[in-house]
Amino acid sequence: MKLFIDSANIDEIREISKWGILSGVTTNPSLIAKEGRDLKQVIEEITQLVDGPISAEVVGETAEEMVNEAEDLIKIHSNVVIKVPMTEEGLKAVSNFSSRGIKTNVTLVFSATQALLAARAGASFVSPFLGRLDDIGYDGVQLVEEIAHIFEVHNINTEIIAASTRHNLHVVDAAKAGSHIATIPYNILKQMLKHPLTDIGIEKFLADWEKTKR
Ligand code: E4P
Repeated sequence: MKLFIDSANIDEIREISKWGILSGVTTNPSLIAKEGRDLKQVIEEITQLVDGPISAEVVGETAEEMVNEAEDLIKIHSNVVIKVPMTEEGLKAVSNFSSRGIKTNVTLVFSATQALLAARAGASFVSPFLGRLDDIGYDGVQLVEEIAHIFEVHNINTEIIAASTRHNLHVVDAAKAGSHIATIPYNILKQMLKHPLTDIGIEKFLADWEKTKR
């Protein structure tokens, strides 16, 4: 399973990109708004840091508005992926982008039928939201499992991005469920790195090493 960072914060993306583990980046309007910066500027800066799919979301409500908005975004870099909401208008826009070879990520996917529709419209990626499903008492991981099974049985090339990941277990479970990608917030990526036994082990190795110098 590939790892993306779910962030629009340049410092966070820069720091994690240095680990050499990132295959891509996802952003959304809330993450961009949190930075208080221009979408195009942020996306341009991210393309300088990570060489992989960078999702930039459109906010128009009609297919026409989404297509128009995307024109400026696709000019930024060939790695830019247009993130489109899972609506009727979104599907029309995805189908338009797909016929022109423009990559898309269909976001706000909460059911297997939505994922299938998005894939058939030509989406490059679908993003089931694990955390938000768990929040309302449904099983986000089970949804990823269902989508992965359907895509495999029917030879669908659309990649699954497990999104709205809230903790380490989501990442592990998404990988076990067959997700191609997990997009993960900065703080969870930092948590994934940590284990108390690693810290204790390093401390002990260093203490033993110091003893050899006496
Ligand atoms: C995915 O692409 C979204 O940006 C993101 O994962 C949403 O996560 P949230 O539910 O924590 O806002």
